[in-house]
Amino acid sequence: MDAFELLKNDHAKVSSLFDRIEPATDAATRQQLFAQLKQELDIHAHIEETILYPALKAAAETRDITEEAYEEHQEVKDLLNELEATPADSEEWSDMIMELRENVEHHVEEEEGEMFTQAREVLSEQQLNEIGARMSAEKQQKQKAATGS
Ligand SMILES: [Fe+2]
Ligand SMILES: [Fe+2]
Repeated sequence: MDAFELLKNDHAKVSSLFDRIEPATDAATRQQLFAQLKQELDIHAHIEETILYPALKAAAETRDITEEAYEEHQEVKDLLNELEATPADSEEWSDMIMELRENVEHHVEEEEGEMFTQAREVLSEQQLNEIGARMSAEKQQKQKAATGS
């Protein structure tokens, strides 16, 4: 499993969840979709932060962009926590979801553009496959834990 393929699939899934959340107006639907979105983003950030990012931070060429990415993850996590504490039928909630989407999309553009391009220069095809396999295994484990099965 190629590391970037796995992450791009996750990014696409998150984008389609935002597409479903935006037109939702009732609190129950919003909450249900938001729970899915949060779980996706939590697990995605976890596999990037524990498996891919450390490998990129170790190389001089990708250190800065990786440090920036950690910071962007933190902003996303803060917004997710704020959203969780906000009534889902409020206008504030809709505004925050839009802000979250903008943050996530900006971050994804940077990853799929500059970061993945540079990463191909510092990591070999074999390393990328190994990182992909480890992320895939960790993701499955986290998903199992999250659904309690
Ligand atoms: Fe990321
Ligand atoms: Fe990502």
